[in-house]
Amino acid sequence: MIKYITESTEYLQNKGFDKPEIGIILGTGLGQFINEIDIIAQASYNHIPNFPTATVEFHKGKLIFGTIAGRKVIVMQGRFHVYEGYTLQDVTFPVRIMEKLGIKTLLVSNAAGAVNLDFKKGELMLIDDHINLQGSSPLAFKGVSDLGTRFTDMSVPYNTEINTKIESIAKANGIKLHKGVYASVVGPQLETRAEYRMLKIIGADAVGMSTVPEIIVANHLGLKASAISVLTDECDPDNLKPVNIQEIIEMANKAEPHMITIFKELIKEL
Ligand code: HPA
Repeated sequence: MIKYITESTEYLQNKGFDKPEIGIILGTGLGQFINEIDIIAQASYNHIPNFPTATVEFHKGKLIFGTIAGRKVIVMQGRFHVYEGYTLQDVTFPVRIMEKLGIKTLLVSNAAGAVNLDFKKGELMLIDDHINLQGSSPLAFKGVSDLGTRFTDMSVPYNTEINTKIESIAKANGIKLHKGVYASVVGPQLETRAEYRMLKIIGADAVGMSTVPEIIVANHLGLKASAISVLTDECDPDNLKPVNIQEIIEMANKAEPHMITIFKELIKEL
C-alpha cells in the first residue's frame, strides 16, 4: 500500500498538484461545485497509477486541483463505492493520496435518503455521527498500522469546530440544515420497508451508500473531517414509493446550490 500511495502521489505532484490544504469529495449529482474552483491541474481517475477506475457513468471521475478564495483545494469529482465491486481499501485510497499530498481537512458530500421523516427531500443534513453497516472496515487489512493507529478513535469522527462553522453559515444564508446520524449500507439496491424501520430504530436519520469509509480513513490519518448529506428522497416504510435513481439525481441537483454556498463560505473560514 505504501508503494502504491507514493507512486500515485508522485504522479499527481508531477502534474502540478502542489500541496492542497483541503480535500473535497463530491457526491452523486453534486459535481457543479467544480465551477467554483480556479483550476490549476486535473487528472482523470483512469490515468492515475493505482487508482480504481470509475464505473458508474454519471460520475465523471476526475481529481481537480485549484484554488477557492485563495485556498488550495483538491476535489474528487465522483467517488468509488463498494457496490461497484471495489474493496473498502480501494474506495478510500484517494483519501490517503489527498492526505499524502498535504490536506489537513476533508469535506464530504453525498446524496442520502431521509429516514427521519421530519426531514424532507431537497433539504440538507449535517452529519453529526454515523453507523457503519457496510459489513467491514477500510482499516481491516494487514499493513494498516504502518499508516496510522489500527484502533482508530471514533468518539468524535466529525470535527466539532467545522460543524459549528457550517451551522452558522447555513443560518446566515437562510439554508435549512438538519443535523443527524448517517447510516452507510453497501447497496446498490435500495432498502426494503423492514430495513427502513430497522434503520430508524437503531438511530439513523439518513441512509446512503458512501461517506463512512472515507470518514473512517480521514480519522485514521488524523484529518479534520466534516460531511453533509443532500436528502434526495423520503424513506417512509408505511408509504414507500418505488425509488427512481433519476429522481434522486434531480433532487441532488436541485439542492446542490445550497451545498455549494456552504462549502464555499466554509473554505474562506478554514
Ligand atoms: N437509500 C435510500 N435512499 C437513498 C439512498 C440510499 O442509499 N441514497 C440516496 N437516496
